[in-house]
Amino acid sequence: MATNRTFTMIKPDAVKAGNIGNILQMITDGGFEIKAMKYTQLTEEQAKEFYAVHSERPFYGELVEFMTSGPIVAAILEKDNAVADFRALIGATNPAEAEEGTIRKKYATSMGENAVHGSDSDENAKIEGDFHFSAEEVVA
Ligand code: PPS
Repeated sequence: MATNRTFTMIKPDAVKAGNIGNILQMITDGGFEIKAMKYTQLTEEQAKEFYAVHSERPFYGELVEFMTSGPIVAAILEKDNAVADFRALIGATNPAEAEEGTIRKKYATSMGENAVHGSDSDENAKIEGDFHFSAEEVVA
């Protein structure tokens, strides 16, 4: 059964480009409710742990370097069918393949610098949300 929460990060490229507001607007227009949010910068240790599942992939070092290169916005979002609907809203990992109207089509520039992260399963949404937020930081 699909749960109703997902986890996102607005990545350093989109923050640097001044697109936090535009992206949050697309998220709320898409029917997602923000249950927790923070503006922060990942340490190398945090980025390595968050992306540990990709540690054997050739771009891992580049991904960690990019994700620690500046501030991010981390958030827990709620909506029916949140994980799948949010993946649809953000579009394909490669912005060249992202559909019109998606966040990555509008704001991403490459496979690495692709503006936003979205959890790929309900299980990972819970793990990733718990990685960034304590229970007290999530509104009821
Ligand atoms: S996905 O969404 O997990 O199916 O996408 P995937 O292609 O497996 O990519 C996983 C994350 O790695 C990032 N990525 C890259 N970073 C740097 N360089 C290259 N070439 C590259 N390819 C993929 C991609 O943006 C995904 O990050 P997240 O934060 O999970 O979206």
